[in-house]
Amino acid sequence: MALPLQDKVAFITGGGSGLGAETARRLARDGALVAINDLNPSAAESIASELGGLALPFDVTDSSRMDLAVDMCVSQLGRLDIMVNNAGIAPTAPGSKTDIAIANQMKRMEGRIDELEPMNYLIDMSDAEWDRMIRVHLYGAFYGTRAALRYMQPQRSGRIVNISSILGQKPSAGAPHYSVAKAAIITLTKTTAEEVAGLGINVNAVCPGYIDTPLLTPFSETLKAGIVMRIGKGHMGVPNDIAEMIRFLCGPESQYCTGDVFTVSGGYLG
Ligand SMILES: NC(=O)c1ccc[n+]([C@@H]2O[C@H](COP(=O)([O-])OP(=O)(O)OC[C@H]3O[C@@H](n4cnc5c(N)ncnc54)[C@H](O)[C@@H]3O)[C@@H](O)[C@H]2O)c1
Repeated sequence: MALPLQDKVAFITGGGSGLGAETARRLARDGALVAINDLNPSAAESIASELGGLALPFDVTDSSRMDLAVDMCVSQLGRLDIMVNNAGIAPTAPGSKTDIAIANQMKRMEGRIDELEPMNYLIDMSDAEWDRMIRVHLYGAFYGTRAALRYMQPQRSGRIVNISSILGQKPSAGAPHYSVAKAAIITLTKTTAEEVAGLGINVNAVCPGYIDTPLLTPFSETLKAGIVMRIGKGHMGVPNDIAEMIRFLCGPESQYCTGDVFTVSGGYLG
């Protein structure tokens, strides 16, 4: 019997690690051929060779490289059915800010609002940090979507899955640029979906909660413990929790889902 994604071709950005790599494995397990993008060439090549796919290392903030890579995917693998705009970077706040945040939390609990220390998340942010965060996430998703539609529209079929975040829905003061980029990805998803819904193309967003991947490596143990306290399930998710949702959105079971937002957070309270 044919597998559910037999002969489908999937392009996954940031596919060399974490959620992207696990998604590539999950889609390949159901028969898809995979093209693996990553900024890190050896990571892209490693996952592509594991899955018999095509490695396409480049920076998703480069729109002409995105167009060329999608062209290369179609010329090498024959078509494009699935685009997963997943590449991303972590917001990083210095550990000293975590200590201030904890001290402020204690002061709030004790009603000592007048003694709160400024966090300076915005004041300390450089233009370059803001710009890079928006470019990798929002511009990357836009470039990937535009490049994919050039092939999906004429064939009148396709699935685009944009990886947003729980912080796109419940923004965090500690990560304003990341939260803004991820919220904008939700709006990009909805506007694109509306445009192409009648052309057989479904566009959806997935909002992961906190998932244990290399993205969280810069987070201190104290910060992670504070996050876990706010997760209903009491622990972070694993990459497969998100890969299963993405697989659903790429398969026949989700044909009526478009312009929709799927949160997988283990009951994150925000
Ligand atoms: N892990 C989480 O808790 C979590 C939660 C919500 C959303 N997300 C989102 O999920 C996506 C995947 O994150 P992850 O946890 O798997 O992280 P990860 O660090 O394990 O993987 C991200 C991959 O993206 C690649 N990448 C980074 N910048 C790139 C660029 N400019 N061009 C091409 N590739 C680039 C990295 O090299 C890396 O291989 C990201 O968009 C992230 O914001 C993750």
